[in-house]
Amino acid sequence: MNAAPEKTKHGLAAGLEAAPENPDWTIDQGWERYSAEEHGVWKTLFERQSKLLPGRACRAFVEGMQQLPMRADEIPDFRRVSDVLMKHTGWQVVAVPGLVPDDVFFDHLANRRFPAGQFIRKPHELDYLEEPDVFHDVFGHVPMLMNPALADFIQAYGQGGMRAKELGVLDKLARVYWYTVEFGLLQEDGGLRIYGAGIASSRTESLFCLEDPSPNRIRFDLERVMRTRYRIDDFQESYFVIRDLDELLELAQIDFAPIYQRVGQAGDLQPGEVLESDQLFTRGSGDYHRARRAAANASTDADTDAAART
Ligand SMILES: [Fe+2]
Repeated sequence: MNAAPEKTKHGLAAGLEAAPENPDWTIDQGWERYSAEEHGVWKTLFERQSKLLPGRACRAFVEGMQQLPMRADEIPDFRRVSDVLMKHTGWQVVAVPGLVPDDVFFDHLANRRFPAGQFIRKPHELDYLEEPDVFHDVFGHVPMLMNPALADFIQAYGQGGMRAKELGVLDKLARVYWYTVEFGLLQEDGGLRIYGAGIASSRTESLFCLEDPSPNRIRFDLERVMRTRYRIDDFQESYFVIRDLDELLELAQIDFAPIYQRVGQAGDLQPGEVLESDQLFTRGSGDYHRARRAAANASTDADTDAAART
């Protein structure tokens, strides 16, 4: 029951039928073609997160944001964002139509190109979206790409992705990305701060990950994280905390091949599982996900009853 779905997302695994003309899947952002309503959605999201993140997001995120040509009134122009990013860390942002296949995604990252969804979510789906859009990809990811440590780490992830695919262990590597680049927390000023883009671009998860008593907050450990399944459809049950961004650079130096072997033998862990060996910042109550599972069970039972009557 608590086996979380584990599709990979945020740039991974699109269907080939959606392939655009360019083999690298890039498209023109078409900045001039965004409508007033689309810029308005960006503004709503931007203003909401800008109020929430000071004191919750790490300094690197806040500083990165301040240095980029991003403001509330309009969806950023990737050309202008890339000009600034290129000067700082040699990265650029390229537009893609949505999710792209693994090898395309890894090739972009390995070459310091961040593929960003060109579209923006609709006004009625501010808090949930199936595929990463321009707000998630640009507001969430790009400020951290201004940081040299994270910039190098994501490039190394792209390089490691192709190797992991060949070794048949992509699921293990994807968990590292998920629990760092997407949903990572770090220690700063005596507390925990957000650096993961999946959190930084979500109002509800920005609050949940730091302030709710339900999730576990666990010191990051590479092998432990590689074993840990994750939730793609809801808040995380566990968040992993790094010491600082330099810890990611140290990770980028490690040869993962022998680790994949050990991790494969050790077996997977459920998203909310806590081990005796874990260094815990918070042992979560688990209440939030327990209630969600109970509600899901109740609706499944209701469906079964209905089916039995017909
Ligand atoms: Fe993402």
